[in-house]
Amino acid sequence: MPFRFIRPRGLSTASLRRGPFYVVASVELGNTTTKCIIVATDLRNGRMYELAKVVRPTRDVRPPAPDEEVFGRTVVGVPLTRESVSEFVRDVLLATVDRARLDLSHDLHFVVRSTGVTAGFARPEEVGEMVKALADGCLSAGISPRLMTASLTPENLPPGIRDFTWLRKVYFDGAIAGCLPPADTGVVANEMEGELVTAGIKGAARSAGVDFRSPVITLDFGTTLAGRVTDASLPYAKTVGSFAGLAGAIPDALARGSDLVDPETGTALELPRPSGTLDDGTSGIEEDVERVHGLIRVQRVAKGRTRFGTVPVDPRAAEEAGLVLVGVDVGDNGSGLAVLTEIGREVYDRGGVRLLTLLIDLVQVGLVERIMKVVDASGLLLRGTSLGLTGRAILTGQKPRLLAQRLRAPDGSLWADTRLLVLVEDGLAMGAGVAARCMNSLGTPRNPIGGRRGDGCIMAQRMRLQGERRGNGG
Ligand SMILES: Nc1ncnc2c1ncn2[C@@H]1O[C@H](COP(=O)(O)OP(=O)(O)OP(=O)(O)O)[C@@H](O)[C@H]1O
Ligand SMILES: [Mg+2]
Repeated sequence: MPFRFIRPRGLSTASLRRGPFYVVASVELGNTTTKCIIVATDLRNGRMYELAKVVRPTRDVRPPAPDEEVFGRTVVGVPLTRESVSEFVRDVLLATVDRARLDLSHDLHFVVRSTGVTAGFARPEEVGEMVKALADGCLSAGISPRLMTASLTPENLPPGIRDFTWLRKVYFDGAIAGCLPPADTGVVANEMEGELVTAGIKGAARSAGVDFRSPVITLDFGTTLAGRVTDASLPYAKTVGSFAGLAGAIPDALARGSDLVDPETGTALELPRPSGTLDDGTSGIEEDVERVHGLIRVQRVAKGRTRFGTVPVDPRAAEEAGLVLVGVDVGDNGSGLAVLTEIGREVYDRGGVRLLTLLIDLVQVGLVERIMKVVDASGLLLRGTSLGLTGRAILTGQKPRLLAQRLRAPDGSLWADTRLLVLVEDGLAMGAGVAARCMNSLGTPRNPIGGRRGDGCIMAQRMRLQGERRGNGG
């Protein structure tokens, strides 16, 4: 089976009238890009579509006013205040609703907010402050608070949607896309991102006719890394692994060695895309790849660390929750990134943007290989585990193709030949669409997202479990 690259399909607003569509806005404040994506799901079959998408550089958040408190910073240090984040989010959300030509008070059913910006916080729990600032932004855009919480009864849902909820049979008990979060949610600051991308990759795959279900590994290659490892438990898979640290920040550091982007805040995103492709065997590039990897650490996060690759972590909580935490760093919390910039400069001087881009692509593919080795060495790779990836720092350029050609399963076979490898664009936003449905029991039993690959829907098992809990008074 070759790898699958899944791009969400578009849908016109006029077509919304043709079905029972559940419309969810995902608002994501990323370290590099802030995105608002409106996802519509056909409740008859679970197929997902993108209605509109607006992407803005996060560094366009206005500077802090003199009386405001800077409560967070992106990986490259863009200062954020509650007020500036809230205004930025409001504007991006309104622009997206406008682009989709939706009526904010009628056409939108749910709003999910999330952030990858965690570097400024001391502890994983503090990311809640950022999520509150995002909520402020949504409220000031005119979103009703009702659209940000789970419904307890069908009556809380709009009439056309109500017919599709299973709330009378199963209630929302914290499982999203059939996966339970770790017992302690204060393990990594980007746990919610891990949850959303896992749900999104499952949902987008299902939409494309691909059965990507437990056990899975999911990775979001934003500027920072997020993702999960799940087992194959029933009815709910457990989260047994989580990821933190640097991802796109590595190509960004390499890109800053060229004179094509800002030397302080420039990113790989801004590099011009070279036409044509260079062969992997070109001009000793593998040696440079090795040099770069010599500076990158990929490992289980040791006890005593409070931060790994700039992301706040709590390895003790991880251990207590039975969770393996895998981190990526360069030096200590990115302290070695400047050395990568030097290597980037050498490669750029030798072979221009084409060679630099090849370096970046090979480094990123190597990063996935190393992450998978650590996951395997931790005993988390099951025989049927599938791998799903999202985020610009792994979907772009030749990375998907190189990954399919290089990544090996533990038995030495090509991963893409013997297991499932899916790459999903806008995985996190797709996950917002899935999570909102889960919170309101709007599943599609004939096209299930929860449960194990190849199995049927888990609704009956969930009902049994929830019935037992009720019986126990719990
Ligand atoms: N062609 C490319 N090659 C390598 N990396 C790239 C490329 N294009 C973009 N990136 C990197 O991907 C990252 C941005 O991805 P994305 O927008 O998914 O992240 P984000 O959501 O802003 O970050 P986070 O999730 O950590 O908050 C940046 O580090 C960016 O430079
Ligand atoms: Mg992101």
